[in-house]
Amino acid sequence: MIAIIIATIVAIAPIQPTQADERGKGAHLGASELMLQMGDRYKNLYWAAKLGQWDFARYQSEEIEELIEKLIQAEPKREKSARAFLEHVYPRLPDAIRSHDWEKFASAFEHMRQQCEACHRKNARAYIKLPTPQSATSPVLNLD
Ligand code: HEC
Repeated sequence: MIAIIIATIVAIAPIQPTQADERGKGAHLGASELMLQMGDRYKNLYWAAKLGQWDFARYQSEEIEELIEKLIQAEPKREKSARAFLEHVYPRLPDAIRSHDWEKFASAFEHMRQQCEACHRKNARAYIKLPTPQSATSPVLNLD
């Protein structure tokens, strides 16, 4: 009998929201925080490739994809435009990075840049324009 009660408690326990879960909810980032990170990754991606740090560029590209997935979770109303971005940019961008070919990368990056701006237009943010990055923020790139 006791065994059954314990088994039941163990089975039910994970369903109860824990304090950690509740804290986690409060900590979810909104679109503006996610996009500030996106701006950094955008710059670091460009300069990583320009400096021939292709593995770091690939990492930035994966993180950009992940930020878009997080945006969909945070703001489901942006899902349609977000999925359109992912379909246009992936796998073209990672393929270009894998080729270690600057020309190919520059063309995939420009294509992505236009898709970033297209999504801003679709979300009433046409004024958020993205020039080609003149600098990067990551200490890994050592551009200071
Ligand atoms: C799903 C649509 C979507 C995509 C794709 C998207 N953005 Fe955004 N972006 C937004 C929205 C919406 C905002 C405004 C957020 C707000 O008002 O809370 C924004 C804001 C920004 C900002 C301004 C952040 C600030 O607060 O100063 C930057 C920078 C930015 N995006 C960069 C990018 C870059 C770089 C890409 C492409 C790699 C990109 N975005 C792709 C929707 C998108």
